[in-house]
Amino acid sequence: MQIITTINEMKALSDSFRKKNERIAFVPTMGNLHPGHIQLVERAETLAPKTIVSIFVNPLQFGANEDFDAYPRTLEHDRYLLELANVDALFTPARNEIYPDKNSNKEVIEFPGLSDILCGASRPGHFSGVAVVVKHLFETVQPDIAIFGEKDYQQVLVIKKLVAEYDLPVEIITIPTQRESDGLAMSSRNGYLSEQERQVAPLLYKTLCQARDQLRAKAVHFSEIEQQANEVLTKAGFKPDYFSIRHSGDLSEPAEDEKQLVILVAAYLGKTRLIDNILI
Ligand code: PAJ
Repeated sequence: MQIITTINEMKALSDSFRKKNERIAFVPTMGNLHPGHIQLVERAETLAPKTIVSIFVNPLQFGANEDFDAYPRTLEHDRYLLELANVDALFTPARNEIYPDKNSNKEVIEFPGLSDILCGASRPGHFSGVAVVVKHLFETVQPDIAIFGEKDYQQVLVIKKLVAEYDLPVEIITIPTQRESDGLAMSSRNGYLSEQERQVAPLLYKTLCQARDQLRAKAVHFSEIEQQANEVLTKAGFKPDYFSIRHSGDLSEPAEDEKQLVILVAAYLGKTRLIDNILI
């Protein structure tokens, strides 16, 4: 596996693949890799002869009071996992490669109505930070295909919008959320949970499943399902940020007879903000 740290080297490697007509599948990450990330990599490998993974903890998508400094950085172990997974190249740029000067991290890419609702409302600037870095990474890695996890459902919609608005020549593929055996969605942030919080955490997915079953039974109004779920989570010690039934295409508020639905949740357990969702 080639380890690449500069934009120039990364572009040169991608150019060399392209000259040989070798398509590139790309998996952007912030590292601290878990089996969910490795699923993305394995999917990438089925889609193109060359697979490139990036690890970059992107300061632009963290708010001032968020966990940028504490975010787990485990590069040695990540490298080992990616070697095992037969990845062709790992791109790990330093901060000043991506954001060389003060002005370069002032770029803003907002999609009103999408990037400012749900997680975007609670984390202002978060999705702009994601869009800015993914655009940089796409321009550097020049992939044909990029793979994202449905765990970050709103992020996927933001990336698809980014690709459409900027006419980026990248096909976006998604994979379902990978879960622990008790249902908890795999996440780098699960490592923040205390033993006791870890035992409570699977309730998030259980509550989503119950809400899905209520939706299917069509016996209860959306707002009642949301309210009940918030109560269940609060009782168990979560501080819900939102529990929301939305249109799965654009996250707008759906009519009661809408069929294309997703239920999304974000909730704090102690200091850890967990997110999850379920497609109907
Ligand atoms: P990160 O949280 O490291 O996630 C990298 C990719 O892995 C994302 O596409 C995410 O949705 C996916 N992923 C994480 N947990 C998953 C799980 N349990 N099942 C399936 N996929 C999972 O998301 C980011 O990084 C950043 O915002 C990034 C896109 C790299 C931009 O900085």
